[in-house]
Amino acid sequence: MDQQSLPPHVLIFPLPLQGPVNCMLKLAELLCLAGFHVTFLNTDHIQSRLLRHTDVQSRLKRYPGFRFETISDGLPEDHPRSGDRFIEIFDSLAATTKPLFREMLNSGCLSSDTARPVTCIIADGFLDFLLVVAEEIGIPLFYFDTTSPCSVLAYLSIPKLIDAGELPFNGNDLDAPIRSVPGMEAFLRRRDLPSLCRAGDLDNPVLKRVLTEVRLLPRTKGLILNTFEEIEGPILSHIRSHCPNLYAIGPLHAHLKFRVAEEMGSPASSSNSLWEEDTSCMTWLDAQPLKSVIYVSFGSMAVTTMENLMEFWHGLVNSGKRFLWVIRPDAIAGETWDRQTPAELQEGTKERGYIVGWAPQEEVLAHPAIGGFLTHGGWNSTLESIVAGVPMICWPYFADQQVNSRFLEEVWKLGMDMKDTCDRVIVEKMINDLMEVRRDEFMGSVDKMAKLARTSVSKGRSSYSNLDRLIEDLRSMSL
Ligand code: UDX
Repeated sequence: MDQQSLPPHVLIFPLPLQGPVNCMLKLAELLCLAGFHVTFLNTDHIQSRLLRHTDVQSRLKRYPGFRFETISDGLPEDHPRSGDRFIEIFDSLAATTKPLFREMLNSGCLSSDTARPVTCIIADGFLDFLLVVAEEIGIPLFYFDTTSPCSVLAYLSIPKLIDAGELPFNGNDLDAPIRSVPGMEAFLRRRDLPSLCRAGDLDNPVLKRVLTEVRLLPRTKGLILNTFEEIEGPILSHIRSHCPNLYAIGPLHAHLKFRVAEEMGSPASSSNSLWEEDTSCMTWLDAQPLKSVIYVSFGSMAVTTMENLMEFWHGLVNSGKRFLWVIRPDAIAGETWDRQTPAELQEGTKERGYIVGWAPQEEVLAHPAIGGFLTHGGWNSTLESIVAGVPMICWPYFADQQVNSRFLEEVWKLGMDMKDTCDRVIVEKMINDLMEVRRDEFMGSVDKMAKLARTSVSKGRSSYSNLDRLIEDLRSMSL
């Protein structure tokens, strides 16, 4: 068959983390629904975890154009790849993965009788070496930033923050206002900036990585964001002044569900979990009253201390509310916790609590028994909660989560920001406020935002149209 008559071939390369992998796999499915050929490139480490814990391979068989490829991240197998040590992956990717990636594209191994050579690359903005290789070979590349647009704007404003003398600061006077992030002058404080801004100097390797992404952004063909125009219109306008070609195509999990139903009739179950999901919590939820349970999860990366864990545990039990709590096996720093409930908390936990190592989160949030979400404010979790119409308490850990939690409380009014404190009395009070005392106050905005989010992915609306435009642009670049 004439290669030119074959569909476009898009290569997608996510940052090797749960959130980005989850998000980009959803985009891969959406492009397959449009008839594209998609090669999804995972690191060996991520791929083995994904295949161990999900049926992703059999699920994706329904798309003839989809295939996985893997590449080494260059780290030894027993490297933790989490918490503070995640940063080590970037040097290793640049040293080992970059030449392998170049070789993979040059060798022609990704094309066949039924697949053209790669016509476009969609890459996480943090993987800057991919742009360099794509330019060498002459393949157009789009960035996909899977974090929140409010954090993307804060990152884009870092050069301005430095020029204005607002960065660096020494981690002190965290309530001082920040004036150099456009559109956020009225409410942003030092403590709300992405966590890397708290480093006392400009030599921080993560900060340098962000500055590289900011510098390279104009050389890409465009920026894809997992958001919708209606939640962040003014923020998106400011981002467009850095990168005019923007595609806001989220919330991707809702968008995928809508398009699968539209094209195939049956809604997709789409777990991309890197941990084993404990589905027994769904049976437990079935037995709980309507909106009575607070769901607690701090995502895939947050690592806390035993002391903080106990503050949360006492706060949860003392609140008297029912709770479903995800405590990942690797969530406690430097401790081998035997997962036993402390004696003084046993009664309250047994009566009202359920603890799992990893949950089917999208299903949990959509369950009628869930009335609130105590979250770290990772962008996927935030969007999943918005679509499910669940109000949140946000205890940010790092990265974009600090700014997300400020937006949650000050701009979107979807819940409360609990950053920079971990105290059982505050946990108890906030849970009671969210689930009872201030519930009506939050539910107005929560219901309104859920409706806007769900509508944005329906036919002809903002995210739906933006995805159509992305598909057309990818097609025209493949001619
Ligand atoms: C990381 C960063 O921490 C975050 O700030 C950034 O926005 C994206 O990358 P992560 O900790 O993985 O995020 O959080 P989040 O973005 O919320 O993604 C977690 C994903 O894991 C969600 O899709 C959630 O549904 C899923 N999850 C979480 C489960 O399926 N089960 C769980 O028990 C917990």
